[in-house]
Amino acid sequence: MIYDYIIVGAGIAGLNAARLIPKDKKVLVLCKKSPWECNTFYAQGGIATAVDDSDIPAHIQDTLTAGANYNNVKAVEVLSKNSLEGIENLIDNGLEFDLNEKGELAFTKEAAHSRSRILHADGDATGRMMHLFLMTQLEHEIQTNAVVNDLLIEDGICYGVQYFTSETEQKVAYSHNTILASGGIGSIYKYHTNSTAIAGEVQGIIAEKGLELKDMEMMQFHPTVFKGTSFARKALLSEALRGEGAHVVDENGYRFLYDYHKDAELAPRDVVSRSIFDYNRKTGLGVFLSFDTFDKKYFRKRFPNIYANFDDLGYDLPFEKVPISPAFHYAMGGIATDLNAKVKGVKNLYAIGEASCIGVHGANRLASNSLLEGIVFSKVAVEDSIKEEFTIDKSNYSKIIKSYTRNKNIDKLIKDELRKLMWESAGIVRNMGSLEESLQKIDNFLEEEVGRLLFLRLLTAKSILRAAIDRKESLGAHFIKDF
Ligand code: SIN
Repeated sequence: MIYDYIIVGAGIAGLNAARLIPKDKKVLVLCKKSPWECNTFYAQGGIATAVDDSDIPAHIQDTLTAGANYNNVKAVEVLSKNSLEGIENLIDNGLEFDLNEKGELAFTKEAAHSRSRILHADGDATGRMMHLFLMTQLEHEIQTNAVVNDLLIEDGICYGVQYFTSETEQKVAYSHNTILASGGIGSIYKYHTNSTAIAGEVQGIIAEKGLELKDMEMMQFHPTVFKGTSFARKALLSEALRGEGAHVVDENGYRFLYDYHKDAELAPRDVVSRSIFDYNRKTGLGVFLSFDTFDKKYFRKRFPNIYANFDDLGYDLPFEKVPISPAFHYAMGGIATDLNAKVKGVKNLYAIGEASCIGVHGANRLASNSLLEGIVFSKVAVEDSIKEEFTIDKSNYSKIIKSYTRNKNIDKLIKDELRKLMWESAGIVRNMGSLEESLQKIDNFLEEEVGRLLFLRLLTAKSILRAAIDRKESLGAHFIKDF
């Protein structure tokens, strides 16, 4: 059997693509663990959109300014110009965003936006509500615990995917169109805000095939994540908190961010992360997020999930301040696509959402543009595939289907070492010596007999380090300082 579409990933981009593919098509959605193990599910703050037609130029400009003007301007225009229609379509199909007291859409502000233009749902559970909505709309086949380990690509055509269904079993599925929406790379960093299912294996497959990964040095660190647990995955304190008045202070209550940027908490995310990192390093003082500008009743209504999570952790918000540090958050770089979301060099393969790099985020993503990217470019990919009507002839695929070993005993040790290396060398502030050293270590790990999934992660990590070494000057999230 040949599917019309295989979609790898069940976050916002993958599920919205599935929603837009006509119901009479045969579609298989593969997700690595359970569907909610994706970064969409953890997105708190919201989804950015132009508020109306007159706001499109400002939304475009804010996206470019945050992105250090390294963005693909055409992609940014597509993003913003299609935001209104994308949001309207979701609302028309039943997604409920929060409303203000007048019953109108409630827009909030986040850092580096020149006005309030972020929609949210259930206060601070925007990603979770959008994911739930898209899951309820899903009418196609979905397979959980399907870990993609290869793409069947030959002569510029993708014939389908190969995936593990358990520790030892694997399957092959063929398809006329394949859409990669497998998310970013979070779990290759020691500290991150991502779902633990997100580890960049599909990017590794792309590297292995000699296809293009773009802007891999552009890794975003969220400035305000909770520092108080030892888990790799850190609890996020949404940018919307700062957008609505939370302050970053040192242990003496000093708002040191003004020493770094006139917009302090509302400066672009890379600037805020770097400033916190630098201040802590220079002074040794602890850094906190303070909520003392908030009224208690308002805070608990507007941020109910953050309030409840931190209540569980023993913090009484908004009265107590919370220790914070930056952590890895989002990959601006990924699988290079053209403006139709098509993977460069392959006729019927698309990449969307965080897995992809269409150039929309440049060197630093503007807050809350990622959910929007998932919505807008999933539609672009589906529309392009419908227009192209490409079909494969399975019998033309002549490569041998390989049998992979998913994990090996040595993997755990190397995985931990990899996460530490990436955090320390390809982190918030980088230096060439340490990047080169890490690259050498990764090359050594690649010589070991590791399992397939770790092998792919290593290839992805290697592409990040390589790109970081190749970019000699600082730009946006890629900050080089030799110390
Ligand atoms: C947040 O709520 O701070 C995350 C939003 C984003 O990453 O855009």
